[in-house]
Amino acid sequence: MSVRSKSSKAWLNEHVNDHYVHLAQKEGYRARAAYKLLEINEKDKLIRPGTVLADLGSAPGSWSQVAAQLAGSSGQVFALDILPMDAVEGVSFIQGDFREEAVLAEFERLLGGRPLDLVICDMAPNMSGNAVTDQARSFYLCELALDFAANHLKTGGNFLVKVFQGAGYQEYAAAMREVFASVQTRKPNASRNRSSEIYLLGKNKR
Ligand SMILES: C[S@@+](CC[C@H](N)C(=O)[O-])C[C@H]1O[C@@H](n2cnc3c(N)ncnc32)[C@H](O)[C@@H]1O
Repeated sequence: MSVRSKSSKAWLNEHVNDHYVHLAQKEGYRARAAYKLLEINEKDKLIRPGTVLADLGSAPGSWSQVAAQLAGSSGQVFALDILPMDAVEGVSFIQGDFREEAVLAEFERLLGGRPLDLVICDMAPNMSGNAVTDQARSFYLCELALDFAANHLKTGGNFLVKVFQGAGYQEYAAAMREVFASVQTRKPNASRNRSSEIYLLGKNKR
């Protein structure tokens, strides 16, 4: 890529970034990530009034805000993060490390055996700077999320997960195809700045 197109891409990314940051502030969302979920939901109608869903890696809470608004009082949102999260109306939250059995068990108690319509997962590990390690850690969280989705979604349920393209991506998509009738990619405009970030959408759990 030429220096000129590189720098114009950088300019565009900055600009898009700024736009969503300002919009989030204006509209009361805790993070610009809200617009990724809103855009995906616009197309795929994953969350409607009455939807019961789990939000994995929910802090600071913009996806939970969007989910609770769209699911309404007849729906239910269960959220989890290793970090604390300020309360969001209509969202039941627990703080804990999703990799720990005890945390998973606590979250499952919160669900109380209710089958889910949807699992959304935006979890991302703290980046160490070592690309190989970071990629492996990220996919480990995604694998745990897929396992959780496979166990808790009702038949026909959906799963939206953030992944980073690179090592392990094809294998992960293949594992998703074992669980869902269709697996598609989504790259919302608000995620343009992080080139390797992409969302996989598993539809219609078998
Ligand atoms: C990109 S942020 C999520 C943003 C969120 N979707 C929102 O809209 O506000 C990724 C989150 O994953 C969480 N996370 C990372 N590792 C985790 C783990 N092992 N267990 C639970 N949450 C984890 C981080 O603490 C962080 O809050």
